[in-house]
Amino acid sequence: MAGIRLFLTLLSALLAVAQAIPTISITGSKFFTSDGKQFYVKGVAYQLIEDDPLVDTAQCQRDAALMHTLGANSIRVYHVNATADHSGCMNAFAQNGIYIWVDLDSFKTYIRLDDVPSWTQNKSDSYRAVMDNFAQFENTAGFFIGNEVLNSLQDSGSAPYLLSAAADLRAYGESKQYRTIPIGYSATDTGALPMLQDYLVCRPNATERLDFYALNSYRWCGQSSFQTSGYINLLNASANYPVPIFFSEDGCITVPPRTFTDQAAIFGPDMADTWSGAIIYEWIQETNAYGLIQYGPRQDASVNDDSSSIIEGFTRQGTPTPIAPDFTNLQSQWATLNPTGVDSKAYAATIKTTAPSCPPFTAGGWTVDPSAALPTLGQAAISGMTTGLPGTIPSGSITVVATTGSGPGTENGPESSLNPISSNPDLPYTGGSSATAASSSASASSSATSKAAGVRTISKPVNFDEVTVFRTFMALAGISLGAMVWL
Ligand SMILES: *[C@@H]1O[C@H](CO)[C@@H](O)[C@H](O)[C@H]1NC(C)=O
Ligand SMILES: *[C@@H]1O[C@H](CO)[C@@H](O)[C@H](O)[C@H]1NC(C)=O
Ligand SMILES: *[C@@H]1O[C@H](CO)[C@@H](O)[C@H](O)[C@H]1NC(C)=O
Ligand SMILES: *[C@@H]1O[C@H](CO)[C@@H](O)[C@H](O)[C@H]1NC(C)=O
Repeated sequence: MAGIRLFLTLLSALLAVAQAIPTISITGSKFFTSDGKQFYVKGVAYQLIEDDPLVDTAQCQRDAALMHTLGANSIRVYHVNATADHSGCMNAFAQNGIYIWVDLDSFKTYIRLDDVPSWTQNKSDSYRAVMDNFAQFENTAGFFIGNEVLNSLQDSGSAPYLLSAAADLRAYGESKQYRTIPIGYSATDTGALPMLQDYLVCRPNATERLDFYALNSYRWCGQSSFQTSGYINLLNASANYPVPIFFSEDGCITVPPRTFTDQAAIFGPDMADTWSGAIIYEWIQETNAYGLIQYGPRQDASVNDDSSSIIEGFTRQGTPTPIAPDFTNLQSQWATLNPTGVDSKAYAATIKTTAPSCPPFTAGGWTVDPSAALPTLGQAAISGMTTGLPGTIPSGSITVVATTGSGPGTENGPESSLNPISSNPDLPYTGGSSATAASSSASASSSATSKAAGVRTISKPVNFDEVTVFRTFMALAGISLGAMVWL
C-alpha cells in the first residue's frame, strides 16, 4: 500500500513538472485554459522600465507574489528585449498563476511610424524574434500586433497592415511549429473608428483575421454605471462578435480614489457572457499617476539615478507597496467576481460564430476597400521565412508548478500616502450615447516607461534551461522506475 501511494505521489510530481501551467487558447469568442475552463483576464499593465521589465527575476518574484494576492492572473508588457533571457521572470509569474500578454512591437517597429503604415521585413524580423522568445513559455497567453496604431478615420488606411502583420506572424509561428498563441490588437476607445472592430475580423479568408480584439478604455470613472459609462454601447457593438474581446487597458483616474466598480459589470451578468475581462492600467506608480503600487517615496521629477533604478523621480525596483485605497479596492472587487463561464466542450459543440460584413469603403471616411488584397511584406514573400533577429534567442521553459486559483492574501504592505497626480487626458471618447462619459487615455505612449530613459543596469537572470527540465524529468522518472521495480 505504502509503495503504491509513494508511486502515485511520484507520478503526480512527474505530471506536475510536465504540465506546469495550463495554456490558453481560443474557441469561438472565448478564451479557454487547456484544462477546459473559460479564462477571464484579470490583468495589470506591467512596464517598470521601458526596455524590458521581464529580465530581473528577483523583481518579478516580488511583484508576481503581490499580484497573486491582488487576484490578478495576467500582466500586459508593452516592450521586451527579444534577445534577453526571460526564463526567471516567466517562471516567477507562472508559479503565481499569471499569464503574459506581450506587445510584439518595439519603439522603432510600430506598424505606423511617422504617420506612414508599413509592414516590412525589418519589422517582421523584429516581431518574429519576440515570438521566438515568448512562444517557449506555457504562460504566454497572447500577442498584441499593435497598440493604438490608428485613432482617426484619416488613418483608416493603416488597418490592413495590422492584418498583414498578423497573417505573417501566424504563418511564421506555424512554420516553426509553435503552439498556437492568439494574436490580437489593442485599440483606442475613441468612438471615431467604429468600423475597425469589425474590419479586423471580417475578411472571408480566416487567416486574414485577428484572433482577438481588445480595447483601451477609460470611459467608466468613479461611481458610474453600465448605462452612464457607455459600457452598454460597447456590449451592444460586440453582441455577436466572433472572437474574444476584452479591455487591454482600463481604470479611469479622474474621480479618485479608484473604486473599480466597473469590474462588477465586466465580470458580472452585464458583460461576462460576451467580454473576457480587463487589464488595469497600471502596476507601477509613475508620472501619469495610474499606479497600484510604488517602490519608494516619490522624488523630484528631475531625479534619474541608474544605480538605484530611479527614473523621473520614481523608483522602479524593490518591494512593491500597495497604494491605498486603490489596490485594496481592486482586490475586493476581483475577490467577489469569479464567473465560471462555459465548459469548453459543451460550448464548442454549440457555437455558431459568423464574421461580420466588412465595412464598406467611404470616400472621406473609412477608406479601406474590403475586397482589395492585403499589403504584402515588402517584396519578400512570406514563404522565404527568415528567423527572427540575427543571434540566438535564449532558450527557456516553465519548470515550476503553478499555484492553483488566486485570491486575496495577507501580503499587503503598509498604506501609502502618495497623492494622485492630475490625469493626463488625451484622445477623449467621443462616441456612444452618454454625454457624461468622462474619459482619459493612458496609453503606453503617454507613460513615463515609454520615454527614453538612458542605460540602466539590469541584474542577470537565472537560467532555467531545457537541460534543467530534462534533468529534473530524468531524475523523477528514475525514482518512479525504482518505485515500480520495488513494488
Ligand atoms: C537585450 O538583451 C541582450 C542579451 O541579454 C543584451 O546584450 C542587450 O544589451 C539588451 N538590450 C537592451 C536594449 O537592453
Ligand atoms: C533594416 O535592417 C537593416 C539591418 O538590420 C538596417 O541596415 C536597415 O537600415 C533597416 N532598414 C530600415 C528601413 O529600418
Ligand atoms: C489566405 O490569406 C493568406 C494570408 O494573406 C494567404 O497566404 C493565403 O493564400 C490566403 N488563402 C486563400 C485561399 O486565398
Ligand atoms: C444596439 O443599439 C441599437 C440602437 O440603440 C438598438 O437598436 C439595437 O437593438 C442594439 N443591439 C443590441 C444587440 O442590443
